[in-house]
Amino acid sequence: MDVDRREFFASVGVGALAAMSHEDRAEELEHFMIHRLDDSIRPPRKYADEEVKEMQEAVTRRGVGRLFVKGDGDPLEPMPKNATLEDFFRLRFAPANHVLQSAAHALQTGQPERTILACLLHDTVQALIRVDHGYWGAALFEPYVDERISWGIRYHQALRFYPDESVGYEYPELYNRMFGEDYVPEPYIKEAYEYARNHSWYMESRLITVNDTYGFQKGVEVSIDPFIDFIGRHFKQPKEGLGNDNSASAHMWRSIANPDRPL
Ligand SMILES: [Fe+2]
Ligand SMILES: [Fe+2]
Repeated sequence: MDVDRREFFASVGVGALAAMSHEDRAEELEHFMIHRLDDSIRPPRKYADEEVKEMQEAVTRRGVGRLFVKGDGDPLEPMPKNATLEDFFRLRFAPANHVLQSAAHALQTGQPERTILACLLHDTVQALIRVDHGYWGAALFEPYVDERISWGIRYHQALRFYPDESVGYEYPELYNRMFGEDYVPEPYIKEAYEYARNHSWYMESRLITVNDTYGFQKGVEVSIDPFIDFIGRHFKQPKEGLGNDNSASAHMWRSIANPDRPL
């Protein structure tokens, strides 16, 4: 996917971009690309007028989840009583084209089933919150998946900044072009990378970053259907429905289901 520098700078604001850390700029770029991809399927949000748009942007911090910014698509469709992961994909994460494309690449290239599911889930938590999404995503899925899947999701956030030639993962050239050659990840990212690099589960996370780079193809729409069986095999769907099962992350699922609740 080509990124128009000018369009990107204009969307964030050159002043705002200059004030950001390198890590924040990289995050902003990823979100910009994910949104552009979704916009190619679902028209971008429309605001009543420029004034409303400006007000919205003035009161919303950048790390807030997509569901917490009102726009087209409101009011949200209610979730069914015993909501499944598939329901969340259709009613809250959609179109989710970036994660679907990543998972499709893992599937087409014959990667392990765990990797396919990890790719499918890796950025979905951004509906709830964007900042530090690897950690939030791991927490959201931990009660329901093999520990290696949530572990991989946690560390993909750091690993994407570090190349690994053994699997053909290069430092994203895009980051050089957008932010210059002087990009330095923050210390906590570097520490997380070093920890993950030396862990026996390293590849669980590394493969997410490899497939991630294939998840920005404009005009390619992927359905959830080919992944339903993988979900059935690897995701421990609670019979009470996600959010009603008292798990350690049930409150997060409820927040995604009902972002309009006042408290
Ligand atoms: Fe990510
Ligand atoms: Fe991603």
